[in-house]
Amino acid sequence: MSKPAVLKLDDKEFEFPTIEGVEDEKAVDFRTLRSVSGYVSFDEGYGNTGSCQSEITFIDGEIGILRYRGIPIEQLAEKSDFLESSYMILYGDLPNQTQLDAFRASIRDNTPVSPLMGAALKGFPSDSPPMGMLGAMLSALSCYSPELATNDRAKDLENFDQAASTAIAQTATAAALAYRVTKGLEGNQPDPSLSFHDNFLHMMFSEPGKAYEAIPEVSRALDLMLLLHADHEQNCSTSTVRMVASGGANLFASVAAGVGALWGPAHGGANMAVIKMLEEIKASGDDGSKFIEEAKSGKRLMGFGHRVYKNFDPRAKIIGQACDNLLNKLDIDDPCLDIARHLEQAALADDYFISRNLYPNVDFYSGIVLRALGIPADMFTVMFAIGRMPGWVANWREIAMHPKMKINRPRQIYQGPALRDYVPLESRT
Ligand code: CMC
Repeated sequence: MSKPAVLKLDDKEFEFPTIEGVEDEKAVDFRTLRSVSGYVSFDEGYGNTGSCQSEITFIDGEIGILRYRGIPIEQLAEKSDFLESSYMILYGDLPNQTQLDAFRASIRDNTPVSPLMGAALKGFPSDSPPMGMLGAMLSALSCYSPELATNDRAKDLENFDQAASTAIAQTATAAALAYRVTKGLEGNQPDPSLSFHDNFLHMMFSEPGKAYEAIPEVSRALDLMLLLHADHEQNCSTSTVRMVASGGANLFASVAAGVGALWGPAHGGANMAVIKMLEEIKASGDDGSKFIEEAKSGKRLMGFGHRVYKNFDPRAKIIGQACDNLLNKLDIDDPCLDIARHLEQAALADDYFISRNLYPNVDFYSGIVLRALGIPADMFTVMFAIGRMPGWVANWREIAMHPKMKINRPRQIYQGPALRDYVPLESRT
């Protein structure tokens, strides 16, 4: 039993239990703080708040550790693939052959979207942001498959396997269709003979009479990129999914909210922002040297820094290597990639970035990999969402299965006007 924490407030002492995680993370359990003392804890940005106890993903940002269900990301990147790791993230353990075959079949069988959903996607203007279309379509899954989205926790859990496969598979289908709409192209029907990633590339890039030809290195890079994004504990979008789920909302409504949370440039939008930044640097005639100086006085070097990783981002190490291999294999000559390499080297040797623990994060390289795969920049955050879907779904399930789950409801410290009277319209200036 760990020792309780003692807090002295207004000359009174209060004791609070402490909690230890399996990797020795320590927390003070302040759940009774307000009821016993009248105070609440204040932690804007939640940098110090454990919002839940979870069994899915472990991160130690100080030393660059990321594990899904206990297994290091390095091992999964080398030996597993996106769907096998997704199964483990969802259900807790690596699947045996029968379970894996059944899961792959379920993903394949749930890949085609309802024709109504295909038609709805066609109704979006061709200049729509694909993230906006994806969020709308995931939310609309509760209309196309209402039996999987009842907002009755017991029923939704009964149908969880089907709902999870639908969310993972149809995120990829909706993403590819969204891309085709923005290009003014007809959608491609899924090809059930292909793997998850090759089918995605086919749905994106096949043309009438000219099927997309998979290049093994491209397929592997895409699968790796998805696997590396599959979960990342209580980040902004996953916390959003849990928040929505805590109110009892169905899986599709919860993950649709995750898409909205992921969209911003400080989170999933960073991979797109990296490429935008590289293109702007190129257009200005800079090789990155001028930009590095500007990033020390206000501008953000996109793809650098992380709220949790303060040493290195283990995903960045893996994808950085894969990025090099891919570019060499495809023999790509892209000035933006030269600028990226220059920025990376300059920042890693510069005291401003070193002293603030600013290292390349996964998005610095994933943007470059996606560009090399021929995926346009406005689809990058959508690609992140396809990868993150298993993590969101697993977090929804953890909430739904929690026997004592309460609605998530933070408090605030009110700093607005003190009590004042209503002023009639005619008396206002
Ligand atoms: N470029 C230049 N300076 C930076 C950067 C950057 N990318 N990131 C942080 N800083 C500076 C910041 O100005 C501050 O300096 P000072 O102490 O002099 O005021 C210091 O470093 C600490 O910054 P912070 O904003 O307090 O750090 P944070 O932990 O709140 O922010 C972050 C983390 C990821 C939002 C931020 O580093 C950032 O905006 N990076 C660029 C966007 C990006 O790549 N986001 C993707 C994150 S990885 C994907 C994901 O998991 O969602």
